[in-house]
Amino acid sequence: MRENSALEAPGRCPMPHTIKPIDSDKPDFGGEVSGIDLTHHLTEDEITAIHAGMDRFGVLVFRNQRLEDEQQIEFSRQLGPLEQATGDIMAEKDRRLSMDLNDISNVDKHGELLPRDDRRRLFGLGNRLWHSDSSFKEVPAMYSLLSARRIPPTGGNTEYADMRAAYDALDEATKREVRDLICAHSQVFSRAILGFDDFTEAERVKWAPVRQRLVRQHPNTGRLSLYLSSHAGMIEGWLVPEARAFLRDLTEHATQRQFVYAHVWQPWDLVVWDNRVTMHRARRYDPGEVRDMRRTTLTNEVSSLSQAPA
Ligand code: OGA
Ligand code: MN
Repeated sequence: MRENSALEAPGRCPMPHTIKPIDSDKPDFGGEVSGIDLTHHLTEDEITAIHAGMDRFGVLVFRNQRLEDEQQIEFSRQLGPLEQATGDIMAEKDRRLSMDLNDISNVDKHGELLPRDDRRRLFGLGNRLWHSDSSFKEVPAMYSLLSARRIPPTGGNTEYADMRAAYDALDEATKREVRDLICAHSQVFSRAILGFDDFTEAERVKWAPVRQRLVRQHPNTGRLSLYLSSHAGMIEGWLVPEARAFLRDLTEHATQRQFVYAHVWQPWDLVVWDNRVTMHRARRYDPGEVRDMRRTTLTNEVSSLSQAPA
């Protein structure tokens, strides 16, 4: 049974919390949080600490958070407004989870493995490409909050790349070149990379390309970052092959090992990342194993177009 958080919060004595770099080589990318229980209503202090930790680290790991779906939704809402799961290709009748949750799994609504050639599963392979969540939406995602419910015995890590550090490491000429570029993003572009084109006409209309800045500025920290994503398939004013070759070069630069944190999942880990300053990708695992992850997503509320470098 859930406890009544409204009644419980005032009397509860919150544990002291700490956030420490996961990897001492990366003091500002990837933090591990302890002393916060996400199954309870968060205190103002905890909310402030999480946002401050996100601003510094871009990715935060919370271990051992036994969240029910409703608890995940509720705690996510304490950090900001939720985005709806309108980016998947799930028919209404097949949905296992509410529209507040993205179903990042390879199972059907009865918990059975989907056939390997199921359209949902093939579409889901798009997560194996470096991307930023919902960059194909006009108003893209701010934080993503991914909860591991069932994980395969090996493989299936999630990797995160620091797009602030990647921007900082560009040479001055490239910084000048990318600074004011606008890209077009669509899920049709990212899936084409994998040879997936099984879209309905309605999906093609719904996922018509949207414009995003290639360099954006974080509203709290002022840091600039490369806003790359596998969904980016064009640069305004550029020939398409030239644009794609350049976006590939930038992605290769930005995902060098010194910018990457690889998360090895344990059941009940909850990882939060800021899509404005990171890219991520899923790694391979045995397709005969169940992997059940659930994601809540906070909306950025504004387009990246309004986050031009000052
Ligand atoms: C996501 C995602 C990667 C993974 O949830 O948005 O891309 O490892 N997940 O499942
Ligand atoms: Mn993703």
